[in-house]
Amino acid sequence: MKGIILAGGAGSRLYPLTLVASKQLQPVYDKPMVYYPLTTLIESGIREFCLISTPHDLPRFKQLLGDGSAWGLTIEYREQPKPAGIAQAFLIAESFIGSDAVTLILGDNIFYGGDTFQRAFADFKSGATIFGYHVNDPERYGVVEFDAAGKAVSIEEKPKSPKSNYAVPGLYIFDNEVVAISKALKPSARGELEITAVNVEYLRRGTLRVHRLNRGFAWLDAGTSSSLHDASAYVQTIEKRAGIKIGCPEESAFRQGFVSLAQLDELVGKIPNCEYRDYLAAVVAEAKRLK
Ligand code: G1P
Repeated sequence: MKGIILAGGAGSRLYPLTLVASKQLQPVYDKPMVYYPLTTLIESGIREFCLISTPHDLPRFKQLLGDGSAWGLTIEYREQPKPAGIAQAFLIAESFIGSDAVTLILGDNIFYGGDTFQRAFADFKSGATIFGYHVNDPERYGVVEFDAAGKAVSIEEKPKSPKSNYAVPGLYIFDNEVVAISKALKPSARGELEITAVNVEYLRRGTLRVHRLNRGFAWLDAGTSSSLHDASAYVQTIEKRAGIKIGCPEESAFRQGFVSLAQLDELVGKIPNCEYRDYLAAVVAEAKRLK
């Protein structure tokens, strides 16, 4: 399974924050935003990544994440010159995907709680798997409607009159058919290759699975100044209370076995003195104690 992180867009809703650094590089409490979706996929066992961003922002992401080898990953980079839709990512990354299945996560989607994703990845064989999350403002999202038996019956992109409160979050798992399906798409009224159109095609074929995320799950959106602040406050609350970090790629890579304890120890040694280093040093000390 390959992993695409889509971190494009103008980030105009966060202006002037985004004049110099793109939305997905903004801090969410104590880390750059993109750390969170990256960690979500690492926790699901993904090791091979392609990060897609604008020509302007791509160098910053390379500076931040490098080739991924320090964390036991491979990270390739591709440009999306214009924001022409989420599904365009499958065309841009076609050679990266090759003949594999692929998951796409949006660079501004922050998830926390439970092992639903891990189980969905473990169970995935073919077709498409997406998720539904109960929200207050479904009209801002792709909206999935379920029948009485809990089966998905329709998906609409930003409908004026949503048929349910279930929004489709920005994490999608597809078999290799997604490349051909995306190639056959026509741009929508807003001029984009819509991810919802891809999901609708899988629904039409009868190969779409939609998992409802339960109430214990948090899906945060960090696309406006206010929701960015809320996301930071949420992460701070959990981290302070539990003494664990959310969205820490080094720790997740270690727990997945992508880096050894010795490698993690060495990584920690290179981090300047800060709270982030203290946290990882404690992870190393605990692992040594348990060895
Ligand atoms: C996009 C998708 C939408 C999805 C949302 C999740 O919306 O088009 O279906 O629910 O991401 O964040 P956009 O970011 O383009 O508003």
